[in-house]
Amino acid sequence: MFSTYIRRLSAQSTVAMACTFLASAASAQPSEPIKVGLMLPTSGTFAELGKKVANGFKLYVTENGGKLAGRTVQYVELDDESDPSKANENTNKLIKRDRVDVLVGTIHSGVAMTMARVARDTNTLMIVPNAGAAELTGSMCAPNVFRTSFSNWQPGYASGLLAARKRKTAVTISWKYAAGDESVRGFREGFEKGGGRVIKDLNLPFPNVEFQPLLTELATIKPEAAYVFVAGAGQVKFVRDYAAAGLKNSIPLYGAFITEGTLEAQGEAASGLQTALHYADGLKNAKNDAFIASHKKALNTVPDVFAVQGYDAAQLFAAGLNAVKGDTGKKAEMIKAMESAKLDSPRGPLSFSKSHNPIQDMYARVAIGKQNVMTDVIVKTLADPSLDCKL
Ligand code: BEZ
Repeated sequence: MFSTYIRRLSAQSTVAMACTFLASAASAQPSEPIKVGLMLPTSGTFAELGKKVANGFKLYVTENGGKLAGRTVQYVELDDESDPSKANENTNKLIKRDRVDVLVGTIHSGVAMTMARVARDTNTLMIVPNAGAAELTGSMCAPNVFRTSFSNWQPGYASGLLAARKRKTAVTISWKYAAGDESVRGFREGFEKGGGRVIKDLNLPFPNVEFQPLLTELATIKPEAAYVFVAGAGQVKFVRDYAAAGLKNSIPLYGAFITEGTLEAQGEAASGLQTALHYADGLKNAKNDAFIASHKKALNTVPDVFAVQGYDAAQLFAAGLNAVKGDTGKKAEMIKAMESAKLDSPRGPLSFSKSHNPIQDMYARVAIGKQNVMTDVIVKTLADPSLDCKL
């Protein structure tokens, strides 16, 4: 009797297990919402940047009726605090606990490198909408990891070419972490290519904003130009401190992100600053006109490069999803479609190199009023060499 009961129980549990299996198989079907893990900072130095990226991503989805490839989009959002020491746990939460279909993040290079390691180990699709760490599309490149922003080398290199047009000696100032080091390396390469020479590299720990000792040393060295990499909340203080120290007219300041999205807060201190980036305010193309109008309508603000990068992360994901009619199980096909995607980005045409890094034009800009106005194209279709990527 007892054994018959056990057999019946076990048969019942087999049926139950089969039902569970069928249910979970069904949950992978395209009729279910698609889960997007947004791992971005909403607190700390890069909070504004994280919010802009998230808004850009969501804007594209909203423009498409809240769906991608016919599937409703569900967001799982996590504040990474730009803290590399929490990155492993945070990434695992999104992948293993929340079972996201795609991981979108982040701003800080150190956090993004850990995310990419976990994404690679779990074969989770990941799209980097900002962090420029060379390794992401270099030695750590992977079939399932894409970037819609830049490698730190790209804007650094373009800034070096820009500064070398008029100046022949420079001092660099940067936060001491992957992004700062790589941005300065890119600047040096471009500056030397244009006939310039970097005299000294100064730095301070991320996200320290005590710039005064470095500005004092800069004033003593008296180079023809200075190049700076700090971002987010740090860039507003740096530009104000630079002007207050009386350096703005004596040592022209160059940068990539230094005036991006913050001209209102920086005011007169930023006026006339020259920067090099893959986007400019009011860039003239049909897609950007539509993007600016849509962003203003939905968010009541003018977009900047961070919003563009988030928007393009959604566009790239959509390109992959459309190719498989929303079936994320067909990962190899999705990746193939993403690799060959030619996006109509607000920044201009956007395609991807073999390492999955953007190939894009780099613009010279000057800060006039509340706009970083494009003056010319410094380099067309600039691709990161990504020599260490073995894809
Ligand atoms: C980075 O950590 O890669 C980064 C952060 C802010 C702006 C640009 C790059």
